Amino acid sequence: MPITTTPPVQLARIAELASFGHRLIEVLQTPEGAYPASPTFSAYAGYCWFRDGSFIADGMSAYGDERSATAFFGWCAGVLTSRADHIDWIVDETRAGRPPSGDRMLPARFTYDGQDGTDEWWDFQLDGYGTWLWALVAHAARHGLDLAPWQKAAELTVDYLVCSWARPCYDWWEEHSEHVHVSTLACVSAGLSAAVRAGLITGTRADEAIAASRAIGGVIADRGVRDGHLTKWLDVATVDGSLAAAVAPLGVVDARSPLAAATVDALERQLTVERGVHRYLGDTFYGGGQWPILSCFLGLAHTAAGNAERAAELLDWVASTATPALELPEQVDGHLIAPGMRQEWIDRWGTVATPLLWSHAMLIRLAVELDSARTLDSQPLSEGPTR
Ligand code: BGC
Repeated sequence: MPITTTPPVQLARIAELASFGHRLIEVLQTPEGAYPASPTFSAYAGYCWFRDGSFIADGMSAYGDERSATAFFGWCAGVLTSRADHIDWIVDETRAGRPPSGDRMLPARFTYDGQDGTDEWWDFQLDGYGTWLWALVAHAARHGLDLAPWQKAAELTVDYLVCSWARPCYDWWEEHSEHVHVSTLACVSAGLSAAVRAGLITGTRADEAIAASRAIGGVIADRGVRDGHLTKWLDVATVDGSLAAAVAPLGVVDARSPLAAATVDALERQLTVERGVHRYLGDTFYGGGQWPILSCFLGLAHTAAGNAERAAELLDWVASTATPALELPEQVDGHLIAPGMRQEWIDRWGTVATPLLWSHAMLIRLAVELDSARTLDSQPLSEGPTR
């Protein structure tokens, strides 16, 4: 039986968009396994991000596409193992009390053949390295896969994160490198815990990962919570749309806890206008619009807390942002925080990134989640969707 008596979701439309998104991602995935963030957008073309890619793989995996997600994780492993010496050097230097500068750390994005980019970018971001581990373990559990082929890459990632997690770095939005971001900490913690849980790492390395994950939990509790909710970075009271991910799908904060409830509530009250979620107050990127991926993350958090009805409303809104060609954008301009800034970005980089593969993957991910909660009623989303 469906959870809601009158699901607001337009079932056929969601199924159509999920199927379109799956095909789009499948077609655009490169032979190496990389997922282009947005094939046509000037500033992103040619690059695959660990953050976007991991969530895209998670969506593909949840939709039942084991092959695509496995190929992506293979690409990640290649990127990491081909840099084993460099990662070992970062770890040794850090342990010796000489943490390398941000520009010597691993970048946020790579070319499809796994090289560092040549364009200037806000590259030092730690979240994607936690997220890929978390998504890999979730994928393996979902499809009953042996994790042995990923062990070396996982060990390198864990060593890198265990010695670096406390450092300030750029956030999900590639901004504010002077802060330690709570969403970033959540991604790192989720990755470390997943690697331990799955037995990907053992012995001293696992002990260190457990200790780091506990320490992250302590830092979040002490300095990343204000007024009962998670905060954008340490020691402030503001929030960020990415915080919903700490609740779900990452599961770092128990979805039924007061902390999760207060965080979801703060995101609803401070960043959500009707059903579209802003990144944060003060956002000026393309005028600071509403991001489909963030409505999906909020929907996942609601679903995990048992509020599938609100999640379905959010999913419906995400579907409404599709272009006539069914492509989903990075953000929409129905409600802008800083309308005067929009044109400046259009002049600089062109119109908003569309399609954004991460947007498509998040629609799929939330649709599958609601499908599993049976809110989407009878119509299966794909041949064999699994969570
Ligand atoms: C977003 C990042 C994203 C990148 C590629 C940036 O504008 O802030 O979160 O990884 O685009 O999609």
